[in-house]
Amino acid sequence: MTKQRTHILYNPVSFAGGVIAAASLLVFLLLFFLQLVGRVENPYYGLFLFIIVPAFLLFGLVLVPVGAYVEIRRRRRYGIVGPSFPIVDLNDPRHRRYLLLGIVAVIAFLLLSAVGSYEAYHYTDSVQFCGRLCHEVMKPEDTLYRQSPHARVRCVDCHVGAGANWYVRSKLSGMYQVYATLANVYPRPIPTPIENLRPAQETCEQCHWPEQFYGAQQKLFHHFLPDERNTEWQINMLIKTGGGSPITGLTTGIHWHMNIANRVEYLATDPKRQEISWVRFTNRATGETRVFVDQTNPVTPEQAETLRVRVMDCMDCHNRPTHIYRSPSQIVNLALATGKLDRSLPFLKQVATEALAQEYGTTQGALDTIALRLREFYGQQFPDLVRGAALDSTIARLQQLYQLNFFPEMRSRWDRYPDNIGHLNFKGCYRCHDGKHVDAEGRTITNQCTACHTIVWQGVPDSLELSHSPEGLEFRHPVDIGESWKEMLCSDCHTGALP
Ligand code: HEC
Ligand code: HEC
Ligand code: HEC
Ligand code: HEC
Ligand code: HEC
Ligand code: HEC
Repeated sequence: MTKQRTHILYNPVSFAGGVIAAASLLVFLLLFFLQLVGRVENPYYGLFLFIIVPAFLLFGLVLVPVGAYVEIRRRRRYGIVGPSFPIVDLNDPRHRRYLLLGIVAVIAFLLLSAVGSYEAYHYTDSVQFCGRLCHEVMKPEDTLYRQSPHARVRCVDCHVGAGANWYVRSKLSGMYQVYATLANVYPRPIPTPIENLRPAQETCEQCHWPEQFYGAQQKLFHHFLPDERNTEWQINMLIKTGGGSPITGLTTGIHWHMNIANRVEYLATDPKRQEISWVRFTNRATGETRVFVDQTNPVTPEQAETLRVRVMDCMDCHNRPTHIYRSPSQIVNLALATGKLDRSLPFLKQVATEALAQEYGTTQGALDTIALRLREFYGQQFPDLVRGAALDSTIARLQQLYQLNFFPEMRSRWDRYPDNIGHLNFKGCYRCHDGKHVDAEGRTITNQCTACHTIVWQGVPDSLELSHSPEGLEFRHPVDIGESWKEMLCSDCHTGALP
């Protein structure tokens, strides 16, 4: 039987572990210091600093005892005896120093991992992590988010909210998403709505107090007609937002549906929740309920088995509070109204809208074709009028607007993501307020134009028609289509591009 004096930690595995841990610690400290002094913006930096390097550090640290364990077993097998565990003799000043050093190292490590995991937690909740790490996949959502009223709200404040439960759930589903991205099996476009989004009470309502009474909001809508002069058409409306709480104001107007005094539930027969076939409203004070059914789209018995009743919340109307895809017509209207596009170019509304609305395969292809279409049109129709710098800057502007709203690589554009506010390009409010949803007594959910807004003025700017009464004006359709705007849904003709 031989005796071995060397320490069990003197083995190749523990040694490798020690080296890996020490190197990772050094790298971590260096990167952490760099992050403290400079503002590092690269999203991969955080991934490296807070996830990959600490993983190596932990791996190294785990290797050390693993090596020792293997070493102990090796010695046993060869019959080598000796103390398996280190002997600490507190009377020996050298041992005391080592022990002290060890304790300091453990405390430092615990502190560091506390700070590290706190930072890692923050990093995995940051806009950089959610929006920019998989920049190809999340580019549409991230780009639109950055131009929206919520650009300073973190992704997780709407998508995850507070609490460990949802944090863990989101990270678990995140693991699948990482896999889907790496394996390139993610859907294009990303489907909407999100199946299991956290209820608005726990996200939106952490910042927005649902009892708030808003009164009415005056909004000016600029339109330009697809004619030679790009004729401007304005609609100025008072939108009756109102409130849902009997304590802070009248429970009237649009925010009447806020689930405070009333509760609205519905069944949709399609995955995008655009075809609503059954609606129930409950008056919370009296308990009275009314059920409205769309007889033209009844729920089949099979659907009744699988469909889930949804309680209407903020997201059923505000489903695009931050990822706001603008339609080609809206983009061009806005750019013409603000002077970003020159309204003196003949037919610009029409040509630009058509160029944007065409379906393209790649961004580069889109930019090239947009330029080509405009050059061709003006070259043939107005060769003397529109040339040189005026045409170049118009093309550049349109290309820029395209990139802010269209993402052909992800097949994401306005017509894939219905916007439920209003009713011009999508059914929106008309999913229920279309006059087809009838209750047992034959009453419909209101479709009076003045239930939701009144028109203050409308028309061409030099000859506006002004309202002189609280009921506002009767709507006048900008081009003559007879009475069809009363009989059809606006979205039957309006799709966001030209009809
Ligand atoms: C103001 C709240 C809010 C913020 C901030 C926010 N989102 Fe969203 N997001 C939503 C809502 C609401 C939906 C649509 C949900 C629905 O209809 O079910 C959505 C949908 C999505 C979708 C599904 C595709 C779609 O457009 O419907 C993705 C992906 C997404 N968000 C990613 C992000 C990322 C990444 C960020 C941060 C850069 C972010 N979100 C920030 C509210 C938000
Ligand atoms: C972290 C706080 C926060 C959260 C969470 C949040 N919002 Fe907001 N929201 C704001 C702020 C701040 C503004 C005002 C922005 C401004 O006017 O510059 C705002 C503005 C709005 C507006 C008015 C936008 C406009 O066009 O003026 C709507 C509508 C809205 N939020 C809906 C939502 C919905 C729906 C959700 C949940 C999906 C949500 N918000 C979640 C902070 C938040
Ligand atoms: C029935 C649909 C509907 C529901 C449900 C709804 N809203 Fe609204 N909300 C609207 C409409 C319509 C407007 C008017 C603004 C517009 O047309 O863009 C509005 C306006 C707002 C505004 C801007 C008000 C202003 O005057 O600046 C905020 C903020 C807002 N809603 C938050 C919420 C929150 C938070 C919830 C959930 C508790 C909610 N809304 C539920 C339809 C709805
Ligand atoms: C899921 C179905 C549903 C959707 C979607 C919906 N509503 Fe309603 N809304 C109702 C029901 C049900 C009532 C109550 C029926 C009634 O009294 O006629 C109602 C009532 C109203 C009222 C009258 C409130 C009052 O003062 O009595 C207004 C205003 C209104 N909705 C606006 C809107 C707007 C604006 C939108 C779109 C942003 C919208 N609704 C979307 C179901 C819906
Ligand atoms: C259930 C509520 C509701 C009813 C009923 C309703 N609207 Fe609206 N409408 C809205 C809301 C909400 C918006 C605001 C959309 C926005 O903020 O972008 C809107 C916007 C509009 C706009 C401006 C659209 C734009 O982008 O320029 C016009 C015009 C309009 N409505 C006309 C009508 C007419 C005409 C009727 C009757 C046939 C009607 N509305 C019935 C809720 C309603
Ligand atoms: C029968 C088809 C049809 C119906 C229904 C219809 N429109 Fe139109 N609308 C048109 C046509 C065609 C034009 C002219 C081309 C254009 O500008 O898109 C137009 C133009 C417009 C414009 C200005 C143009 C723009 O694109 O900026 C507005 C605003 C408008 N309609 C509002 C409405 C509203 C609100 C409703 C529903 C109450 C409605 N329309 C219903 C066919 C229709």
